[in-house]
Amino acid sequence: MQKVLNTIQNVPYRSSQLVMKQVAQVLKLPVPPVLKGPGMVRRFPEIIKLSGVTKILVVTDKPLYALGLLDSFLCALETNGIDAVVFDKVQPNPTFENVEDGLAMYYSTNCNGVVAFGGGSPLDCAKVIAAKVTNRKSIEKMRGLYKLTRKLPPFFAIPTTSGTGSEATICAVITDVKNHEKFSINDPKLVPMATVLDPELTAGLPPSLTATTGMDALTHAVEAYIGHYDTAFVKEKALNATEIIINNLEDCYHNGQDLDLRLKMAQASFDGGLAFTRAYVGYVHAFAHAMGGFYGVPHGLANAIILPTILDFSRKAAEKKLAELAFYSGLGEAMYDDETLAGLFIEKIKSMNAGMGIPTTIYALKAYDIPELAKRILKEANPTYPVPRIMHYQECCDLLQQLCPETSFSD
Ligand SMILES: [Fe+2]
Repeated sequence: MQKVLNTIQNVPYRSSQLVMKQVAQVLKLPVPPVLKGPGMVRRFPEIIKLSGVTKILVVTDKPLYALGLLDSFLCALETNGIDAVVFDKVQPNPTFENVEDGLAMYYSTNCNGVVAFGGGSPLDCAKVIAAKVTNRKSIEKMRGLYKLTRKLPPFFAIPTTSGTGSEATICAVITDVKNHEKFSINDPKLVPMATVLDPELTAGLPPSLTATTGMDALTHAVEAYIGHYDTAFVKEKALNATEIIINNLEDCYHNGQDLDLRLKMAQASFDGGLAFTRAYVGYVHAFAHAMGGFYGVPHGLANAIILPTILDFSRKAAEKKLAELAFYSGLGEAMYDDETLAGLFIEKIKSMNAGMGIPTTIYALKAYDIPELAKRILKEANPTYPVPRIMHYQECCDLLQQLCPETSFSD
């Protein structure tokens, strides 16, 4: 009986996704030009200069600034005749207050451009600061899709992690502290004018952060690929990102100073961003957002733990695509059937997690929160995310139990 009810419930979800799938096929989103290679951050001001910017707000966070990671970039800005004003008050989950403080600095110092320098938080915060310069509306009113009416001032992105892909996306995630929620602003105007992938900037990342940000990038690629909004462009970028991460992330985890590996991971993160900003994500992200909102579990870590569980759940429905991801990544032989290849792909992710010290359960997850968590997850994902297999309430509770140390069979 429950199976029949679930099938009936799936019909409106799939119908609305069908409309969005058509939109995804014709949607043209900008791809930022990329300056790529070791030391390229020092050449990036030459690109910024072409936009006519004379005074730029550099949006970053205190640890990066204190570490001196910005020094050579700031020096190169000066060499190119561009004044820099550093705003380093971005918090790990950027808030409205961070945006307003950055905006006040932009105005008080008469800047005429913005550059983000850092991980996902500075990039997201800088996007919203730049959006507020030209779009005179509250951050709440920017929430959702296509709410920006005016293009941003010249805006550039310099990522220092390889995971969020924010340098390639139309998205900025911001935290509403008053209402205890995170929400996203999605608009093609948020895509930077240009970006730089410089492996020297990520070479100092600790192994744990290399692992979890890398698994975030893998999740973007896999969820975009197995979802129903895939296009030829999405497939190409997602396959490329997946192959790179499957074959290089563990090496990068162990040899963080290797600039070739770092550059590959930066490219994978960028390609993963290009893929998911067009094709959405899936349940892994819905679960991870709930873990972040409830317990503050870091996004990449949550994704890494949850990814194999959701792939097991979706395995039958996504078997052909998982097999393609496996084969393209060099796992298995052409003669293997899809079932075998899909299995190899999921097993590979589990073994990568184990090799990088990523646990199989979420330490903070409490069994008594599961009913509320399941409601939140399904509210976020259904029908927005074009997942291969639609999840229902009891299934969601069961998967949360698997991920909970108190109720998991695996730990
Ligand atoms: Fe993500």
